[in-house]
Amino acid sequence: MTILYKADPERGLIWQAIFAEHAPDLPFLIWPDIGDATAVRYLVAWQPPDNFLELLPNLQVVFSVGAGVDQFDLRLLPSHIPLVRMIEPSLAEGIVEYVVLSILATHRNLINYIGDQRRKQWKSIRLVPASRRRIGVMGLGVLGRSALDRLKTFGFPLMGWSRSQQVIEGVVCFSGSEQFRDFLSACDILVCLLPLTSETRGILNRHTFGAMPRGAALINVGRGAHLVESDLLDALECGQISSAILDVLSTEPLPENHAFWEHPGILITPHIAGMTQPETAAHVLLDNIRCYQTGEPIEGMVDANQGY
Ligand code: GLV
Repeated sequence: MTILYKADPERGLIWQAIFAEHAPDLPFLIWPDIGDATAVRYLVAWQPPDNFLELLPNLQVVFSVGAGVDQFDLRLLPSHIPLVRMIEPSLAEGIVEYVVLSILATHRNLINYIGDQRRKQWKSIRLVPASRRRIGVMGLGVLGRSALDRLKTFGFPLMGWSRSQQVIEGVVCFSGSEQFRDFLSACDILVCLLPLTSETRGILNRHTFGAMPRGAALINVGRGAHLVESDLLDALECGQISSAILDVLSTEPLPENHAFWEHPGILITPHIAGMTQPETAAHVLLDNIRCYQTGEPIEGMVDANQGY
């Protein structure tokens, strides 16, 4: 009954120590030490090993170390092996901080001021009250809802868009493709927190930007593949989009010769918005393994048809 972990090895040691203390019946191995491969029942991974289904013949559950599960090919996973995404409080807290940080930075024109400082320019930009800056969040799962909840204190008009209709107090909710354009037309700052699926790949494209108010801004905390990068460059060039803050890129690390590095309207961070913290996540994983062992529902179970 072994757990095999394949993610950041430094944090792996903390996971391992927590399991040694709280679940000595579950040996916790850190990749590439797989021990007796036939004993591995649970795989906890960011990027799974190649051919892990052949490598681990008695695998029972696959857990993503992150909130996203797009690194797993759902078509290859047999239906008897559940895939579970990470829902843990410290990861969500990191994402909420990043969203608030990026929205305030955009709202208060920080990207312009960083450029002005480099050019030794002292130039004020007229302040827009929060009550007139409309924020739209795409994706209303645990992360989107937590971010919206925290944003309420600032007084921004808040909107949300998701695949199925949601009800959130203080947030105007839109759903489905039929309401997508209405949602976009009311977004001064658009935040993407969607899971990456075949339906959401490339959703941040020229049509989406064109449906937003002129000069709107983008914040992408989902996945790089949500964004059509050349469409963003065009939209920035013509002023349809005024700025973008991107924590995720289609190729990570961003290649050295990529146009985004030096673009004055783009701020990039290296996929750090949220990080799974072993101190909290190990307990979530252990609870989920115990639920699986006793036949109770697992939190974060991925629906293979929906892709998240
Ligand atoms: C990070 O991107 C995650 O999926 O947790």
